Amino acid sequence: MRLRINRWTPARRDLIFGRKIKHSLVQPHFVVAGQNVDDPIQGMSGINRQSTDILMQTIESDMKMGLTSHMIFLVMDDQMKDSTASYASDHTSPLHNTVRLLKDRYGDDIVVMTDVCLCTGTDHGHCGIVKEERIENDATVEELVKIGISHAKDGADYISASDMMDGRILRLREELDKHGFHSTGIMSYSVKYASSFYGPFREAADSSPEFGDRKSHQMDVRSGYSEAIMEALTDEKEGADIIMIKPGLPYLDVLRKVADAVNRPMAVYNVSGEYSMVMEGNRDIHKRERIIREIFNAFRRAGADVIVSYHAREAATHGWLE
Ligand code: PBG
Repeated sequence: MRLRINRWTPARRDLIFGRKIKHSLVQPHFVVAGQNVDDPIQGMSGINRQSTDILMQTIESDMKMGLTSHMIFLVMDDQMKDSTASYASDHTSPLHNTVRLLKDRYGDDIVVMTDVCLCTGTDHGHCGIVKEERIENDATVEELVKIGISHAKDGADYISASDMMDGRILRLREELDKHGFHSTGIMSYSVKYASSFYGPFREAADSSPEFGDRKSHQMDVRSGYSEAIMEALTDEKEGADIIMIKPGLPYLDVLRKVADAVNRPMAVYNVSGEYSMVMEGNRDIHKRERIIREIFNAFRRAGADVIVSYHAREAATHGWLE
């Protein structure tokens, strides 16, 4: 447990302890190989897959509007994928390049979060090492550790474990410390449901499982509060610096219960399916403004310190966060 992690930089303190909604927002990004790539994503209007050069411009404009926290997902071409997602820990990947450039440029004024999971890098699309069509827990955790350490080396503020394997926070913390990354934090997707709200993301990240589903690791959508609280308390004990609930809107009740049960800052992920419902259903920007404001307020009321949302940029652009 390293309680200084969330206090380490001005941008981290604003994200975790800032009172305004603007402080709490994290904008997600999808980075791809190549140059000058700016590729719209089906069902997620306003969110594109971008190569590092374009993404740097996008983040520059976000930073100017006061969005200082960014979550980065690596999207791979098929030829980079294999059974262990080995390219996910390669320092020459577009994600690693972007993280280095961002930290060189913005230093302590930016919070860079990186997704740590196997699903965007495996040829079968699963979040782990597959043996006889089942996901091996402990072998997967060791691959996650490689990915997490590689992100920490390039300067990520928080590595963000989105896989739902058992025991991964403990192993990530142990290895971060062993490698001297005492100030690198872990945001844990502690309470992540096997939800049907991730559809547009899986398109965006090309990460749909080739067979089966994610129900043997992500939580059963029918499960009650006790399991959610247990997952969160376990991650807290293992050393998570931020505890996340995902998806957001259908699980506000779970967010409230877990926020009351743990002592770590809470995050919520307002996921791709929630985003596309709002965007598709509300073409009128004035209507959308009211809806987005209402959503952000609901997350804050339910206990979220940190809100990961694709709406962050539009809200900041039009000054809906003041
Ligand atoms: C990867 C991951 C997913 C999301 C975030 N990280 C997809 C999944 O678990 O299938 C979903 C985010 C979203 O829908 O916006 N494990």
